[in-house]
Amino acid sequence: MTKASTAKILVLNGPNLGRLDLRDSKLYGNLNFAQLTEYVLGVAAELGLDCEVRQSDSEVEIISWLHEAADGNNPVVINPAAFTHYSYAIRDAADLVKAPLIEVHLSNPMSREEFRHTSVISGVANGTIAGFGPDSYRLALIALTKMLGE
Ligand code: DQA
Repeated sequence: MTKASTAKILVLNGPNLGRLDLRDSKLYGNLNFAQLTEYVLGVAAELGLDCEVRQSDSEVEIISWLHEAADGNNPVVINPAAFTHYSYAIRDAADLVKAPLIEVHLSNPMSREEFRHTSVISGVANGTIAGFGPDSYRLALIALTKMLGE
């Protein structure tokens, strides 16, 4: 496992997560993306982590952020959203990140439609946390804190 890093943690979010308020609240809860961001930054502050939250609907932009994390040795928490299920390009970019990388999901894709049962990202992530709503991000940051301290 990668040793402690003081680099900023990048919390990357994929397509349609910027529109959380318009999506099914039974699956995604009641926070809009600004509120989710605020929640994640609050958790990071409690844990003493330097963290930046980003969202993009663009595969290209997410890949460029993963390249940035690879170059800067930034730990990553990523919710690739629908890209989870088919983007080999995001998988390959995630594989370049040598600092810890944790995949998160608000919902539990394994309890949803069959196409969501495959994650092409999990195989290059240190771990996956899914199904706990915003707490998935909290649990990921707690896990990262432990990993970065080891
Ligand atoms: C998601 C699950 C994906 O299947 C879906 O496409 C999303 C959000 C989640 O956070 O639960 O957009 O990643």
